[in-house]
Amino acid sequence: MVAMYATALVLHLLAATVWTGGHLVLATCVLPRALAAGEAQILKSFEQGYERIGIPALLIQVATGLWLAHLQLPLAQWLDLATPQSHLIAIKLGLLALTAAFAVDARLRLIPKLSAATLPSMAWHIWPVTLFAVLFVLVGAGFRLGWG
Ligand code: HEM
Repeated sequence: MVAMYATALVLHLLAATVWTGGHLVLATCVLPRALAAGEAQILKSFEQGYERIGIPALLIQVATGLWLAHLQLPLAQWLDLATPQSHLIAIKLGLLALTAAFAVDARLRLIPKLSAATLPSMAWHIWPVTLFAVLFVLVGAGFRLGWG
C-alpha cells in the first residue's frame, strides 16, 4: 500500500510538472510569439509536439488524483463539503470539469481550423486553462498544508 501510494503520488507530481509546466511555457512564451507574429503555425507546431505528452499527463493526473482522493476520503464524502479534504477534492473536480470543457472546445472546434483570425479565441482558451493548471497545483499543495 505504501509503495502504491508512493508510486501514485510520484506519477501525480510528474504529470503535474508536464501539464502545468507545459501550459506555462505555452501561455508565456509560445502564445505571445504567435499573437505578435499573427502566425497560427507557431501554436500548431507546439500543440503537435506537446499533445503527445500533455494528454497522457492529464489522463495520469486524473487517474492518480482520483485514487489519491479515495485515500483521503471515502467517495461518498467527496462532495459533502464537511471537511477540509472534501473542499479541496470538490475544487479539484470543479477545475477538472472546467479544464475538460475548455480543452474539448479547443481541440474539436478551434484547433482543426486554427488561423490568424482565430488566434485570439485560442488565447482565451489557453489563459484560463493555464490559470486552472496553476490552481490545481496550489489546491494539491493544500492537502499537505492543511488548507481547505
Ligand atoms: C492537472 C491536474 C492536476 C495537477 C496539476 C495536480 C497537482 C497536484 C500537486 C502538485 C499535489 C501536491 C502533492 C503533494 O503535496 O505532495 C497534488 C495532490 C493531490 N491531488 Fe492533484 N493535481 C491535479 C489533478 C487532480 C485531480 C483531478 C484530483 C482528483 C480529485 C487530484 C487529487 C489530489 C489529491 C487527493 C492530492 C493529495 C495527495 C496526498 O498528499 O496524499 N488532483 N495534486
